[in-house]
Amino acid sequence: MILGIGTDLANIDRIKGTLDRFGDRFCNRVFTDIEQAKAERRKDVAGTYAKRWAAKEACSKALGTGLAMGISWKDMAVTNMRSGQPTMQVTGWAKDRLDAMTPPGHEAVIHVTLTDDHPWAQAFVVIEARALRLDSADVPPHEATNT
Ligand SMILES: CC(C)(COP(=O)(O)OP(=O)(O)OC[C@H]1O[C@@H](n2cnc3c(N)ncnc32)[C@H](O)[C@@H]1OP(=O)(O)O)[C@@H](O)C(=O)NCCC(=O)NCCS
Repeated sequence: MILGIGTDLANIDRIKGTLDRFGDRFCNRVFTDIEQAKAERRKDVAGTYAKRWAAKEACSKALGTGLAMGISWKDMAVTNMRSGQPTMQVTGWAKDRLDAMTPPGHEAVIHVTLTDDHPWAQAFVVIEARALRLDSADVPPHEATNT
């Protein structure tokens, strides 16, 4: 079942302006070391940051909180698989929120997709609840069958 969806469109030039103005202060506040390392070795530094900014905004919407005061941006972090596919890791308040919205007997799976075409960077996030498979050892005896 789908627990939440979120989307965001970020303007790459606006992110570039913030990077030029605030530099490391902005980066260290918003982006994890992994996100910074990815962006800084790219030709399109601002575009790479903008996609991750959009991903965090989209994730906060999927979590149903939006970017409330006091939340840590770094608690929603994008890493890429070897194939290039992005994934979203949540920690701290975002993990607490994810756990709170996940029904018992389910695990939450966060799906994220990113794209950019200057001047826009876009993200979609879908949070899915997937039923945990019960091992036979977990089934109470009166519910177990011998068939
Ligand atoms: C995936 C692909 C379609 C992206 O298209 P694009 O027009 O170049 O770029 P877009 O702006 O639309 O999207 C870029 C984002 O796609 C995502 N992406 C990259 N590879 C992906 C994949 N295998 N699956 C899902 N998403 C992927 C990433 O989030 C990327 O942004 P990021 O690197 O900053 O995280 C394209 O790179 C492709 O076909 N790659 C083929 C696979 C490949 O070359 N793999 C190399 C590593 S094995």
